[in-house]
Amino acid sequence: MRKKNEQRRHSSKSRSRSILVTGGAGFIGANLVRLLLKEGYGVTVLDNLSTGKRESLTGLPIEFILGDILDRRTVDRAVRGKDGIVHLAAQTGVPASLRDPRKDCEVNILGTLNILEACRAENARAERQTRNVHKDGLRIVFASSNAPLGRQSPPATEDKAPLPISPYGASKLAGEAYCLAYQGSWGLSTVVLRFGNVYGPFSGHKGSVVAKFFRDISSEGKIVVDGDGQQTRDFIYVGDLCRAVLLALKSNVCGEVFQVATGTETKITHLAELVKSTSGSKTAVTHGP
Ligand SMILES: NC(=O)c1ccc[n+]([C@@H]2O[C@H](COP(=O)([O-])OP(=O)(O)OC[C@H]3O[C@@H](n4cnc5c(N)ncnc54)[C@H](O)[C@@H]3O)[C@@H](O)[C@H]2O)c1
Repeated sequence: MRKKNEQRRHSSKSRSRSILVTGGAGFIGANLVRLLLKEGYGVTVLDNLSTGKRESLTGLPIEFILGDILDRRTVDRAVRGKDGIVHLAAQTGVPASLRDPRKDCEVNILGTLNILEACRAENARAERQTRNVHKDGLRIVFASSNAPLGRQSPPATEDKAPLPISPYGASKLAGEAYCLAYQGSWGLSTVVLRFGNVYGPFSGHKGSVVAKFFRDISSEGKIVVDGDGQQTRDFIYVGDLCRAVLLALKSNVCGEVFQVATGTETKITHLAELVKSTSGSKTAVTHGP
């Protein structure tokens, strides 16, 4: 009997450290996977490598599943036996969502629905086998953005009504809504994090402004600011963001939305000067349309 209990304790301990990161080969994923491994978690990554790179995870002791969140069978397989999911996989760009709103809708809404449905089924399966480790079942952290707030003026806060102005904002808002609805309807342990503008290592492929300015310096020899550069963003370093994701994963708070940023507005002209001085570059800062 004692041995059985010990075994159960052991298996619950190792299971409680088993996390699926969808989109784990992308910018934030590559950083988050490293943090989770450092913290002793077992990590599975599900990624279709549409923008992420397998090389950003080279040498890391993870399970890698090459697949699409739109493929329910693959999602079921990836979710099986996990205790937590960080759902990062998405169509992540506003311009791409304007070019192809249907694709944006499919990946960000139906893809998220697949994750939630797979988690609901996995909770039910675990309950049938009476091996549910957390009484609340699987923990699900959903990566959202400030885009659902859209037209709202800063500061971005949770109490403001979402007013999206892009298909990307709309699809992220729908993803948030489904996460909250699955908590309300089936008690899924979901939490929504709205990331600020994230910068840091592994972001070379991103269209976001910090990555773009560094690319400008190396490719064009000059930093091109869109418009007058008086527009502002709230920038957060990816290491800080990943710590927030980890806290959300460990927390029991569910059915809620949190903004994750610094609360500091930075003008794009100021950012351009910062990038220029940080990189020791003498290149000019110019303005585009
Ligand atoms: N980077 C930011 O500043 C920022 C800000 C707000 C929100 N977010 C959100 O954070 C998450 C991660 O963003 P990121 O910056 O790391 O983007 P990224 O493009 O670097 O990473 C996304 C990853 O998801 C994968 N992916 C895309 N579609 C997929 C699909 N259908 N099936 C499986 N994998 C798929 C890509 O290959 C990539 O590895 C996204 O949900 C994004 O909307 C990012």
